[in-house]
Amino acid sequence: MPPTEANLHLSVALAAAVAAGDVLRKLWPKPRQVQSKGPRDIVTDADFAAQAVVLDRLRAAFPDHAILSEEGRHDIDLNSPTPTWIIDPLDGTTNYARGLPVFAVSVALAWGGVVQVGVIHDPLRRESFYAARGGGAWLRRGRAKPRPLHVSAVADLGEAVVGLDWAREPELRALTLAAVQRLVTRCRTVRATGSAALGLAYVGAGWVDAYFHHMLQAWDVAAAALLITEAGGVINTPAGAPWRLGDAQVAASNQGLQAAFGAAVRGE
Ligand code: IPD
Ligand code: CA
Ligand code: CA
Repeated sequence: MPPTEANLHLSVALAAAVAAGDVLRKLWPKPRQVQSKGPRDIVTDADFAAQAVVLDRLRAAFPDHAILSEEGRHDIDLNSPTPTWIIDPLDGTTNYARGLPVFAVSVALAWGGVVQVGVIHDPLRRESFYAARGGGAWLRRGRAKPRPLHVSAVADLGEAVVGLDWAREPELRALTLAAVQRLVTRCRTVRATGSAALGLAYVGAGWVDAYFHHMLQAWDVAAAALLITEAGGVINTPAGAPWRLGDAQVAASNQGLQAAFGAAVRGE
């Protein structure tokens, strides 16, 4: 049977993310070249090497598609009807550069502002979290048979494990800190992941119950947003509106936690 278009998009996205992850894993023990992009923002030779691999694969398979990639062109309209790949070739660069083993490749495909396919690949654990719209959320570990993912069933904020990461801007850090102060007294515990894409994927997998962030780019969140909804979860802005492609702030959780978690992040 010929593959459906969605299957083709997903299989190319998975192969591209795994190939980029292989590059990151090979470069991981070697010395890094680190450049500053701005306050608290770095890029390494590994970011560029991983990006080159993803872009080669996607351009070869889909020459007519648009590409927004963190270390590449940014003048891309996310609401365009043209199929648009949204890529973070290395999410968790600070972790990677310091030897902290939590980082990922994130690859999403969207058109008309709607994410259709999302892959978050953790190269060290050889885990690919993935979803295609309407097809559920899945985890493939190495060569094992993929298994379906579901958000957790924890509905009591007092039992919830909450993930977060920090924005770079001081005023947004203050906002995050205030939310952490509220949450840490109301929930089981709070974890900072260092890779927003993985932190969000863990909500889809049910490994953490909720996650929030006050300043993300489309490439950090696009793939994971689809994964979470396909896993039965909710991704909103902290104000409580449904998250849309291009929104910088996210509060994601299972449905049972949505109200109490949103209120705690907002300051109610
Ligand atoms: C960063 C990570 C981090 C988050 C930052 C992101 P990068 O992405 O996801 O966890 O707090 O806001 O920019 O720079 O490592 O791709
Ligand atoms: Ca990122
Ligand atoms: Ca990145």
